Amino acid sequence: MGERLRHIISSRQFDLGFLIKLYKDTVTIQKLLETRQGMELLSSILPGHVVGEIFWQESSRTFHSFASAAGRLGAKVVSERGMKQKSGKWFLAFSSAVKDAYFEDEVRAWASFYDLLILRTAEEGLVGRAVEILEEFHYDIPVVNAGDGIGEHPTQTLLDCFALLYGLGLDIEKDWQKLSHYSAAFINDCKYSRTIHSLALVLGKIFKMPLIFIAPPGLEAPKTLLDELDRSQVNYTLTDSLCPASVYYVTRLQKEYFKNPQDFERYKKYFSITIQVADRFGVRVVMHPFPRSKKGGELPIWLPSDPSTHLISLDKDPRAVYFYQMRVGVPLRMALLKYLLNPYLELQSLKEEYLRRSFRVQCAVCKRLESPELGWSEKAISYIPTLPHVLCPQCTAKKEF
Ligand code: NCD
Repeated sequence: MGERLRHIISSRQFDLGFLIKLYKDTVTIQKLLETRQGMELLSSILPGHVVGEIFWQESSRTFHSFASAAGRLGAKVVSERGMKQKSGKWFLAFSSAVKDAYFEDEVRAWASFYDLLILRTAEEGLVGRAVEILEEFHYDIPVVNAGDGIGEHPTQTLLDCFALLYGLGLDIEKDWQKLSHYSAAFINDCKYSRTIHSLALVLGKIFKMPLIFIAPPGLEAPKTLLDELDRSQVNYTLTDSLCPASVYYVTRLQKEYFKNPQDFERYKKYFSITIQVADRFGVRVVMHPFPRSKKGGELPIWLPSDPSTHLISLDKDPRAVYFYQMRVGVPLRMALLKYLLNPYLELQSLKEEYLRRSFRVQCAVCKRLESPELGWSEKAISYIPTLPHVLCPQCTAKKEF
C-alpha cells in the first residue's frame, strides 16, 4: 500500500505493513484515551475539520463509532441518515433525492462542504462510484466505505482483525505467521454479509488462514469471492453444518436483502452458537459484527432476568470478543481518520509530546521519557532539567554488562 491513504473502499487495499502500523497506532490511541491529557492531545489532531456522514442504510455501531472517533479528534460531524421505505428502497428522505437528484451531483455537493465523506449505501459499488466522480472532477476529498450494500465493509474488517488477534492472544508484528495455523469459520449468511466478504479476503490472502464458510443452502458465499480466493490459493471449504474451527465469525440473516421474505422463517435458528457448541467444536474465539438478531437467534443473549440464558449464552465467556470488536472501533477509526486527513502527523510524536507534558522521569543516559500509561518513549527527548533523572531498564542492562 502506498504512503498516503486516499480513500478506504475495499479490504483489497490493505497489506501486512499497513495492518501492523494501524495496530500500533490504535494501541497508542487507546492508551492516550485513558488520560485527560492524552484526550486533549488527540483532540488537537483534526480541529476545524468537518466530516460528512451520509448513511442510506440503518446503523448503530459504524455510524456512532465514526462519529465518536471524529469528535475525539476535534472534528465536527454532520450527518444525513436514511432508511428503508415501504417501496423496499433505502432513501435519504431529507435530501434532494426526493427531488429526483443525480447521485453524482449529490456527492459533488457534499464534497464541496465537507473535508471527508463517510458513506453507507444500499447498492454494491456505489461508494466506489462516488470516488470515481470525485477523482474525475479533481476533488481532493477522502471517501470511506462504511458498507456498500452486499459489497464490502473494509473498516469493519480492520477492527475484526484486531479483535481476532486479541481473542487468540497474538501480537500482529511478532505472531502474524502463526495465524495460518488457526482456522476461521464464517457462519450463517455468507451470501449477503459484506463483513464476511471483506474479512475473508484479508484472513485468507494476507494471513493465509484456512477458511470455512458454514451457510444454510441458498446462503452460500458468492462465487466471485470464492473465485478470488481460488486465484490466491486460499484454502477454504464450504459446508452447511457446524464443524471444528479456531474462530467462529457469526453473522445475522440479512433478511432485508432476501428476495423472498419467507426465506427468513426457513433459515432462522438454523445455527445457534452457544457455550455447548463452542465447547463441542473446540472454538477459541467467537465474533459477530452485530447486530445479532432477536428473531434469527444465531447468538443467544445473556439476560439478567432469565436464568435459562445463563446456561447457553457466550456473552460472559472469555471466548466471546464481540463487544471488544465494537469498542476497538473507536480508536481504530481515529487512526484511520488521522491517516486520511492529517497524514503527516506522526502519532509517535504525539506520544512524545504527551510524555513531555506529563510529569514523569527521564533517563539520565539515553534521555528517553517514561510514563506509567505509555511506558518508555521510543526516541530521546532533549534534556528536561525539571524532571527526576533515573536509569531506564535498557541503560541499566547495558551498565550491568
Ligand atoms: C453489519 C453491517 O451493517 O454490515 N454491521 C456492522 O456494520 N457492524 C452487519 C449487519 O447489519 O448484519
